[in-house]
Amino acid sequence: MIKEFKAPAPERLPEAFECSWKSPSNIALVKYWGKKEEQIPANPSISFTLDHCATTTLLRCTRKEGRGVAFDLLFEGQPKPSFKPKIEKFLERILPYMPFLEDYHLEIDTSNSFPHSSGIASSASGMSALALCLMSLEKALNAGMSDEYFSKKASFLARLGSGSACRSVEGPVVSWGAHANIDGSSDLYGTVFKESIHEFFLGYQDTILLVDKGEKQVSSTVGHGLMHGHAYAPARFDQAHHNLAALLDVMKRGDRDAFTAIVESEALTLHAMMMSSNPYFILMKPNTLEIINRVWAYREKNDSGLCFTLDAGANVHLLYPEVEKEAVTRFIEAELVDFCQQGQYICDRVGKGAEQLS
Ligand code: PMV
Repeated sequence: MIKEFKAPAPERLPEAFECSWKSPSNIALVKYWGKKEEQIPANPSISFTLDHCATTTLLRCTRKEGRGVAFDLLFEGQPKPSFKPKIEKFLERILPYMPFLEDYHLEIDTSNSFPHSSGIASSASGMSALALCLMSLEKALNAGMSDEYFSKKASFLARLGSGSACRSVEGPVVSWGAHANIDGSSDLYGTVFKESIHEFFLGYQDTILLVDKGEKQVSSTVGHGLMHGHAYAPARFDQAHHNLAALLDVMKRGDRDAFTAIVESEALTLHAMMMSSNPYFILMKPNTLEIINRVWAYREKNDSGLCFTLDAGANVHLLYPEVEKEAVTRFIEAELVDFCQQGQYICDRVGKGAEQLS
């Protein structure tokens, strides 16, 4: 139990409460892959918070009698039983930090800005949006809460739902995991950067090429687990510390090409860990590799900051400076759409973090 995050006894318990938050997804630049007990990362990571890819969650709370968590889960207004076990586990996990949850029946109505079957994980934006709603409830019970504590605890709770979700609460650039060069960094919640990042990177675009919209064959929970006893794990965790320090320096200086080199190496290292685990697996598809090769050929011919990164899946995130938006869009339309399922891609950019709706 982390005492700092245990809610004080409520000053009052309103009969009903309602709030809504919209939280974005994020894309890691230095990847989190491997975890210890209680969602503690095996290495620190850093991400761009996105803008358009987001989850909106409406939380309605009504007083109830009796102990235990009780909730209904709706997805786009309709009951969604398949999402319930994950949310139930999450609510039970955070109950010691929010004992007042037992005093309420919760109705959680959630929807995503991106199609459910796009292969884009909604766990980061979804857990972040839910954690923020729960923090709004906690604030309604204890009015004197600072904004800083609100965001920190929201990130702490989101992490307990899905590790990378703790990087979705705020923006534009958030690290997670204790790191020697980052003041205030913690394994427990995200740390935000703004002033120390060169303006050039704050305009970065992220176009997500939907190569494979199906369910992942290997969940990230299983993937993280396979880092236990992985022959290359210790070297990988050291490398992540090193890459994070180097990337922060590069982002301060606005060094486009050094950024590309670190980000692409991180993406391929993530997949190399999957390919060398026991059991081994491959999440990239032939079209993922086609796209990567086209990106490299494009950079050979053009003075460009276009680079790629990958999540735990086959989709490709293309990252590039705002000034290249038109040229890169032309390149995607001319050379890359054919490698996307039904020619689909999603245009996003670096964003500011979650926002409270009415
Ligand atoms: O938050 P999880 O458990 O879904 O893990 C996310 C892992 C990666 O997306 C592959 C990397 C990251 O840092 O986001």
